[in-house]
Amino acid sequence: MRHNIVAGNWKMNKNAGETAKLLSDILNQLPSGKEVEVLVAPSFVNLSQAIHMLEHTNIGVAAQNMHQAEGGAFTGEISADMLTSIGVQNVILGHSERRQYFKETDALLANKVDTALKHEMRVIFCIGEELKDRQNKQHFNVVDNQLRDGLFHLGANAWVNIVLAYEPVWAIGTGETATPEQAQEMHQFIRETIRHKYGESTAENVSILYGGSVKPDNAKEIFSKTDVDGGLIGGAALKAEDFVAIVDAF
Ligand code: PGA
Repeated sequence: MRHNIVAGNWKMNKNAGETAKLLSDILNQLPSGKEVEVLVAPSFVNLSQAIHMLEHTNIGVAAQNMHQAEGGAFTGEISADMLTSIGVQNVILGHSERRQYFKETDALLANKVDTALKHEMRVIFCIGEELKDRQNKQHFNVVDNQLRDGLFHLGANAWVNIVLAYEPVWAIGTGETATPEQAQEMHQFIRETIRHKYGESTAENVSILYGGSVKPDNAKEIFSKTDVDGGLIGGAALKAEDFVAIVDAF
């Protein structure tokens, strides 16, 4: 069901002690009674701690990545079973940093999505164009291809466990945000593309988050747009005050 979500992607930040501190600060400051689901995605090694600290709270935990295989000789990798066995039910897949630095392709990501869904995890699937794509007016094509190649092999039923995050690469960690109008335009396009493929109910029920330099001072305007259902937050998720203020923007 489409609903508001604010998810903090901590990337490769925060050691064990810092994770505990940030989580307890968020817990202390989080406003109650907001109609928004809150998720945090610490590093793999701190997921157990996060699950433990957030038990009996309404903050959920997500992994930032996952391997597509069930298990085996993949040194340094983490499986879906390892994640779900400690209580992690959400996974971010296809983040642009994974695509760019670790050469993750849409075909690989489609496999990862299948594995995650097989393990009844919910996937936060990231899509978004690079600056050159937007300059060449290819941004809609790029996002369309990422959707088709990464997700459109799924049946309509699978979409209850898919959340999308539109993250224009040029806005990630740069301080440059898409304007609320640019975000709305792309989110509407994404929902429309899903509507064409799967029909009204799938399109209306999928939550589409915006990511890319969301801060306390721009969150409200971005979240006010019709097709924006929340945010995937990087830098501003590392400071409790900022993260909580972004949740509070709903
Ligand atoms: P940012 O990162 O908020 O620091 O731009 C967003 C993301 O990468 O998910």
